[in-house]
Amino acid sequence: MSASMSAQPDFRTWMEGVQARTEDALGRFLPDAASVPAKLHEAMRYTTLGGGKRVRPLLAYAAGELFGALDDAVARAACAVEMIHVYSLVHDDMPCMDDDALRRGKPTVHVAYDEATALLVGDALQAQAFEVLAGSEEVAPARLVQMLRLLAEAAGTKGMCGGQAIDLDSVGISLSLEELERMHQLKTGAMLRVSVLLGALAGRELSAPELQALKDYARAIGLAFQVVDDVLDATADSATLGKTAGKDAAANKPTYVSILGLAPSKALAEQLRQQAHQALAPFGEQALRLRELADLIVQRKA
Ligand code: IPE
Ligand code: IPE
Ligand code: MG
Ligand code: MG
Ligand code: MG
Repeated sequence: MSASMSAQPDFRTWMEGVQARTEDALGRFLPDAASVPAKLHEAMRYTTLGGGKRVRPLLAYAAGELFGALDDAVARAACAVEMIHVYSLVHDDMPCMDDDALRRGKPTVHVAYDEATALLVGDALQAQAFEVLAGSEEVAPARLVQMLRLLAEAAGTKGMCGGQAIDLDSVGISLSLEELERMHQLKTGAMLRVSVLLGALAGRELSAPELQALKDYARAIGLAFQVVDDVLDATADSATLGKTAGKDAAANKPTYVSILGLAPSKALAEQLRQQAHQALAPFGEQALRLRELADLIVQRKA
């Protein structure tokens, strides 16, 4: 291990540092709560600031560090993915979708405000995400267009929205394991994957083998994340999760727990963690943070 590696802060210190930088950057990139329309801006800040694990920004920063991203470029990538993620949560919680009253330990937006505001908060956060990313001046224009396109793909029908549509259409029916994996890869995996890729591209262009290694890593952690989310929904309590536990069974959603069972789901998550580590082998010691994040994603309790 080189001297510079041994001088690295421990994972918790690194993670808290990135979370604080993300919070600060989100605060700067979100509209001022006092500006018109104040209710919409206040609700955007209410739901985005002061909560969440910030897993997607952590992935973007970790990949950014690996590829030498400058501060503003990686902050914009991290905030863009977090804004899309928060928008997806606000809409996911609405009565027409999962109908949830609790998120990140607080009343959901449609409960704290109203449904129309929740709809607009989601719409506005999505637009804001692209505005923030497009404002990156440290990234060469061609690479920035590539990043914008990747983000659009991950958010749209080939990613999160597509997965959410399958999720809603699957209530009460039994999916095959293959169909379940596809749904999870779309609704959750796509945004986690793009977090890694945008962080890396915020640094520099990637060679084909580098891109492949990152995609293999991101595919494993993307699926693992939703497998663990399904496990936690069935095993943790609402206070720990900051969102209503036991929703999936109550709403008759097909999940890894309902289809595979609890112990096999946990075993699968562990297998995916190992796959993620293996995918990072070409990067050696430098991929420390990405390895630690794979561990966090699988071993988290909330
Ligand atoms: C919850 O995501 C929704 C899923 C995609 C499973 P997170 O567990 O990352 O939620 P926050 O951001 O920490 O609130
Ligand atoms: C939602 O999955 C994923 C997205 C918001 C895209 P879930 O419906 O399982 O998320 P939680 O459990 O409400 O956070
Ligand atoms: Mg849902
Ligand atoms: Mg939900
Ligand atoms: Mg869930």
